[in-house]
Amino acid sequence: MKILAIETSCDETAISIVKVLNQNPQKLQFKTIKNYIASQINIHRPWGGVVPHLAKREHIKNLPIIFSKIPVQEIKNINLLAVTTGPGLEPCLWTGINFLKEIKEKYFKKTKTIGVSHLNGHLYSFFLTKKYNEFIKNNNLNNLFPAIALIISGGHTILLFLNDLKKIKKLGETRDDAVGEAFDKVARLLNLPYPGGPEIEKLASSIKKSTINFPRPMLKDKNYDFSFSGLKTAVLYYLKNNPRSKKEEIAFSFQQAAFDVLLFKTFKAVQEFQTKSIFVSGGVIANKTLRQIFKKEAKKRNINILMPDFLYNTDNAAMIAVAGYIQKFILNKNYPLKANGILNYS
Ligand code: KG4
Ligand code: ZN
Repeated sequence: MKILAIETSCDETAISIVKVLNQNPQKLQFKTIKNYIASQINIHRPWGGVVPHLAKREHIKNLPIIFSKIPVQEIKNINLLAVTTGPGLEPCLWTGINFLKEIKEKYFKKTKTIGVSHLNGHLYSFFLTKKYNEFIKNNNLNNLFPAIALIISGGHTILLFLNDLKKIKKLGETRDDAVGEAFDKVARLLNLPYPGGPEIEKLASSIKKSTINFPRPMLKDKNYDFSFSGLKTAVLYYLKNNPRSKKEEIAFSFQQAAFDVLLFKTFKAVQEFQTKSIFVSGGVIANKTLRQIFKKEAKKRNINILMPDFLYNTDNAAMIAVAGYIQKFILNKNYPLKANGILNYS
């Protein structure tokens, strides 16, 4: 079974081919055969963020170029065509959907198609990790559940409870900015280029201890929701009142405040639901400090933690292929080939 997937929900144009190595639902295993990503960072950087019409133009330009790089023998025997249908920037999503229809007409007339949730993509990106592939050699998939999943990206901050692959319940989400968005906005306040996450991480790396006491929004609230816009505003006022402060210290203290909330709420859920595993995904988990603190805390409590390997933290199409397979053959959930025509977790 081979899946070809397309991802164009934001500013990465990506096409992947993923092979399903084991279709036994208790032994699911995937392997990336081809993984192409054309990043548009340089296009959007001068504007300080993603400009939707420029992103759309780049996707339209890049999709056929990337597709032509796939060796002919690899596009034979494709069993499923998957494309991100949302959530994402609508004009960008349509470029992927329309391209999928175009190649279906030309090369894959009889192949089935599936619209995929971008969030499912991040959620299931743990299937592509080395650690999962080791785990599944001596375990069944059931041994990972129940689990808590945290999706932290530029567009989302969501905490989920998974009783198994099928039964998913949303515990909480951000009420305003996503955590990655807060990184991007704080970076702008510090005159750092887009995307802000890696820039803030770089600046913070020279500091060892938090020196500014930024707020930890909603840390003490009983629910599992998040809020990051107040934290960003706190940085804005701090900068206004302390114009000569060190950027490194602001970066470190901001990062620490955001991470404290993510860690606290995730492990509170682990405790409440007595879960065996945590899956953390999305662009923000590229941050090495955050990976370390999650790993350390999980080890202390003796639970599994799965975080995507470097290539699969930020947007890619391999995770869309995995999610496409799971949606189609395990969840029986087929979203229409229509931008943002889908339901989120409830
Ligand atoms: O998952 P992703 O590629 O796209 C969305 O679905 O949104 O995530 C991009 C986000 C951006 O906000 C970026 O600043 C953040 O992930 N990010 C990071 C790091 N690398 C990327 N945030 C913190 N530390 C990083 N090293
Ligand atoms: Zn994403």
